[in-house]
Amino acid sequence: MTQPDTATISTSALDVTAPATTHAELATARPVTAKHAMVVTAQHLATQVGVDILKRGGNAVDATVAVGYALAVVHPCCGNIGGGGFMVLHLAPSENQGMDKGEDKGLANGMDKGKTVFLDFREKAPLKATPTLFQDAEGNVVKGRSTDTYLGVGVPGTVMGLNTALQTYGTMSRKEVMAPAIKLARDGFVLTQGDINILHTRSQDFAKYPNVAAIFLNHGKPYEVGDRLVQPQLAHTLEQIAKDGSRAFYHGSIAQAVVKTSEKNGGLLSLKDFADYTVQWDKPITCGYHGYTVLSAPPPSSGGTTICQILQIIQPYPMGQWGYGSVNTLHTLVEAERRAFADRNTYLGDPAFVNNPIDELLSPKHIAKMRATIQPGKATPSSEIKGSLGPAEGQHTTHFSIVDAQGNAVSITFTINYLFGLGQIAGNTGFFLNNEMDDFTAKPGVPNSFGLVQGRINQIEPGKRPLSSMSPTIVLKDGKLFMVTGSPGGSTIISTTLESILNVVDFGMNMQQAVDAPRVHHQWYPDVVLVEPGLLTPATKSTLEKMGYAFKEVESWGADEAILVDQKTGLLDGANDRRRPAGLAAGY
Ligand code: DON
Repeated sequence: MTQPDTATISTSALDVTAPATTHAELATARPVTAKHAMVVTAQHLATQVGVDILKRGGNAVDATVAVGYALAVVHPCCGNIGGGGFMVLHLAPSENQGMDKGEDKGLANGMDKGKTVFLDFREKAPLKATPTLFQDAEGNVVKGRSTDTYLGVGVPGTVMGLNTALQTYGTMSRKEVMAPAIKLARDGFVLTQGDINILHTRSQDFAKYPNVAAIFLNHGKPYEVGDRLVQPQLAHTLEQIAKDGSRAFYHGSIAQAVVKTSEKNGGLLSLKDFADYTVQWDKPITCGYHGYTVLSAPPPSSGGTTICQILQIIQPYPMGQWGYGSVNTLHTLVEAERRAFADRNTYLGDPAFVNNPIDELLSPKHIAKMRATIQPGKATPSSEIKGSLGPAEGQHTTHFSIVDAQGNAVSITFTINYLFGLGQIAGNTGFFLNNEMDDFTAKPGVPNSFGLVQGRINQIEPGKRPLSSMSPTIVLKDGKLFMVTGSPGGSTIISTTLESILNVVDFGMNMQQAVDAPRVHHQWYPDVVLVEPGLLTPATKSTLEKMGYAFKEVESWGADEAILVDQKTGLLDGANDRRRPAGLAAGY
């Protein structure tokens, strides 16, 4: 693969809505505590929907599906039915079942108790897509083609994903769990400052398309705090799904409307793409870290594999002793990230199309080899790091976390890639389409919007799923639920999720501190360390610069919506990331 020197991470793709925390604020940050159940999402009304479902006796999956559809309405940048995602579901062991309510409803008749399962509802490339789709006749990548045109739209997976989860593990009817979302779309909801911050990021784009402007602008002007956003078209689309299930979306008038608009605008989507779409159950990626078990997303996500590689590399080092934000911690973490991202970008892709050498990537031998190349007191230039197994064969997003009264837990991240995805809506369907095709390798060695420099393994192929960084993660301690975590943020999702674990396990922070604390990120290319303000003291910065590190300060990124189970009291600590002021942790 050619090594670029121009890769940048587009900070607009990183989705900043509020600054990271200061040290003084961090010291007093406290999570929201509840005894029975907890929901944490990036939009407070969606959180309330989830809590209501749980209070009415629904389980974590019922609440997840209700929240997923509600976020498509109240968090339209990111929550979606026009995109896709991943879910990690941990089913409480049998001794927990009925602990709180004396019930054992749904959950596949209890067959899977104690297990953790993974659901892949990632978008697929249209059948007409080709590896050079985003290149011109000379083989140059055409800027904007993967992000701003209908060629960038993958076949959406969210509707089938949510409906499949409900059918398999839920206890309530589709109509019951979708009713709150439909009401929020039909009656509208009042916009808060947090919502407005996000809407304003793309007001100018909304004005370009009359059917988008009619919904997301207020008589041609940006919405303001206190205005009501009403979405009758989306309400109608959701009603069709509530009535006819996934058929309405993949075989009915919704698919037809999307295909018609895509064809009119030079896109590739066909009715066959929709009819052929499938979701996939799988096992999560698992690894141990200081006695904890981490369960996260397998390919077509890179998240679980990369998080586990980084954790295995750093495990022998005394991070806790070195401390959060110290020179040794940052040096070790950045070098581990650099190496793990090189492997990510070289060896991972959709398992339906390519062989992912997960066992080798996570083998103690390979990890030891990676660790051995970390040089004390010195940054390794990324140009000296390659995917280390030898040649490979062959903005926007939201995360939410739910724990129910039985101890079942859901960690789910879903996305339309950019904030408001493609920024376009097909006809009267009322929902934004994704631009997820940008996650593929447009050309080996050429960075995508997140600056990821990827290889042929993630090239576009018909029906293939683009490699993702989404990392919905669950952490267990002695087989018992410990943490539910995850975030948006493109490539930075991996480091954000990882750091939420380190901040608790190694640095002793509470859940709120762990998600609020300033972050660090490195991804091999570009060879620069992203930091949020407040992470580096001037002395630490200067020492690390002398060791060869280049820093770029970015105001903030990510939105980790997490839950921690207090191992002594069993209480649930919920933390809405302070970077997402519209969000809320709530429980009962
Ligand atoms: O799947 C991925 O890795 C990306 N499409 C996620 C995009 C994202 O998180 C945008 N949010 N900032």
